[in-house]
Amino acid sequence: MTEIRRYELLDSTNQEARRIAAKGEYGPLWVIAESQTEGRGRRGHNWISYPGNLFASLLVELESPFETCGQLSFVAALAVSDVVAEYVSSVEVSVKWPNDVLLNQRKVAGVLLETVSSGAASLIIIGCGVNLAHYPRDTDFSATALTEIVEEPPSPEEALTHLVAAWDTWYEIWRKSSFDPIRSAWLARAKGIGEKLTVRLGGAEIQGIFENLGDDGTLLIRTKSGGTERITTGDVFFMD
Ligand code: BTN
Repeated sequence: MTEIRRYELLDSTNQEARRIAAKGEYGPLWVIAESQTEGRGRRGHNWISYPGNLFASLLVELESPFETCGQLSFVAALAVSDVVAEYVSSVEVSVKWPNDVLLNQRKVAGVLLETVSSGAASLIIIGCGVNLAHYPRDTDFSATALTEIVEEPPSPEEALTHLVAAWDTWYEIWRKSSFDPIRSAWLARAKGIGEKLTVRLGGAEIQGIFENLGDDGTLLIRTKSGGTERITTGDVFFMD
């Protein structure tokens, strides 16, 4: 079983994993905190970190080159979606590119993957935030928490047990068979294939139809011109 380090309060579990790595520990280990003062989201966003939700980061040494590490955010999204599906019907759970988890079309969890170079080692930190008991109201995306559906949401500790097991399962699949089965499983759970979406990146916007997930994890969208754009970063909004 992978080591778990538990904290009452941290700035960010990803930041603590980074400090651990800087001291020469390469994991694998999970860092979990009851609350965070500086929770980080993707693309420089804050992650509002109310106690009662799950804040967990895995520090792990990558055996393969850094180029493949983005694939692990899809591995993590699958693991986190399994955690959510433990408590609700799986038809209510979906994933949204690149690695959001949705419950009834609203964001219930997110994944933040960061890399660390430490000497010759390639380390990654995979931070998972799951809204179990609370969710923020004033976000760009509509958010939710498990407590909206289940009367008694699980404790962070219980949710972590599922996360550790689900991560181990999907990571093993990735290690043995690479990205193909991960990509297929992610696509089977993906929201909005064939639907219209907008990708926002800084001030720019691209609109198109969600066509597919590239074999490198890029988002493939068909634009008005009929061409396919490969999107490597950005926030996705579906047009309801
Ligand atoms: C996103 O923007 O969707 C990613 C959110 C990731 C939040 C988690 S909470 C645990 C870990 N520590 C952080 O500071 N961020 C991640």
